[in-house]
Amino acid sequence: MRLVSAPTIQSRIGSLMFLEKFWQRNGFIQTYGDFLLSEIDPLLSPRRLQARVVAIRQETADAKTYVFKPSRRWKGFQAGMHLQVGVEAQGVALSRYYSVSSSVQQFVREGTFSITVKRIPQGRMSNWLFDNLQPEDIVRIGQADGEFTLEQTPAQKVLFLAAGSGITPMMSMLTTHLPQAPERDFQLLYYCCNPDEVIFAQALQSLADQYPNFKLEVVHTDTEGLINAEQLASRCADAAEREVFLCGPGGFMQVARELLEAQGVTADHIRQESFGVRLDVNALEQTGGEVFFSKAGVEAEADGSQTILMLAESAGLKPKYGCRTGICHECKCVKKSGAVRNLLTGQVSLAENEAIQTCISVPQGKVEVAL
Ligand SMILES: Cc1cc2nc3c(=O)[nH]c(=O)nc-3n(C[C@H](O)[C@H](O)[C@H](O)COP(=O)(O)OP(=O)(O)OC[C@H]3O[C@@H](n4cnc5c(N)ncnc54)[C@H](O)[C@@H]3O)c2cc1C
Ligand code: FES
Repeated sequence: MRLVSAPTIQSRIGSLMFLEKFWQRNGFIQTYGDFLLSEIDPLLSPRRLQARVVAIRQETADAKTYVFKPSRRWKGFQAGMHLQVGVEAQGVALSRYYSVSSSVQQFVREGTFSITVKRIPQGRMSNWLFDNLQPEDIVRIGQADGEFTLEQTPAQKVLFLAAGSGITPMMSMLTTHLPQAPERDFQLLYYCCNPDEVIFAQALQSLADQYPNFKLEVVHTDTEGLINAEQLASRCADAAEREVFLCGPGGFMQVARELLEAQGVTADHIRQESFGVRLDVNALEQTGGEVFFSKAGVEAEADGSQTILMLAESAGLKPKYGCRTGICHECKCVKKSGAVRNLLTGQVSLAENEAIQTCISVPQGKVEVAL
């Protein structure tokens, strides 16, 4: 769907700025003004932070880059940060977090930024974006946030360790910092199944050709195997001297972290960004049960393959959420009774009237939550 399909008249933006400021001071006029401005150009809305799709690039068979022009009120980003992107898919509001995949210089020069999304099998938002989002469409956005940035460390030697779509924040950091920091030593070790799955393959090779302080290593796991100690040691013998940025599927990050620590990288030199929790039902001791959503008066059967957030959504509820990975706490609600397992810590919570994060909690038997 197109959130708003008004014509673009960028040339009138300047002359409307004083009206925008006036409208912001009065409640009724603000609402009316918001409506009018949005009709002229959705990006002028003083209330909603939005962005227009200005280009779409196919990166691989299942990954696309979306280039956005955001509202003037969007504050920009540091390379490595993420933001919330929202759409309305078949009448349902969906939002997910995505890392910015473009450089800060692109934003300064052109006023645009990109995200790069990989389709997840059965994923609601990634597939909707892939199949429906078109140039000129408008999406909701949040301000950029996050600490997975090079600004957090003075380290001169950096190792980016990525798998699959985990390359996106690294791409933003590389394209932003390589032109500015010739004294810094960057290495990227990027794990993909095969050459067809390498996102940004050409762009990464161009960076490696252009910058002598950047070493690129792509590992094809179909032929070279999954990440392991020998492979890591041979590809990056000086990992212990580097600040490591780690991003990829949960299983990859867990193994990579253990290997790095075994190779002498201390925990305080490993920074990681998690893109999502994948449910490993077999790892759970007891799964499933019934969840009673007491405010809605609705009960849902749980087979252990869904979090409480997913169960609530499947039951037609509209619970609050943000990152869906346990970072932001937007999904917090009270569990009135029963046991839930936290997917990040593995701990089972039994206490009554306890706050839980629904996006990372799986029911263990009969549970009542205040949703
Ligand atoms: C900080 C942050 C940055 C992110 N940046 C990017 C990015 O740059 N590019 C990108 O493609 N994605 C990124 N993601 C992941 C993104 O937010 C969505 O989770 C992803 O697009 C899947 O959403 P969906 O609606 O399609 O799947 P859902 O309908 O939410 O989930 C469908 C199924 O897939 C599983 N699942 C959900 N997310 C993942 C995942 N990431 N990996 C494996 N299984 C998953 C769920 O457990 C569920 O079983 C980021 C997430 C976070 C928290
Ligand atoms: S949605 Fe962010 S912690 Fe649950």
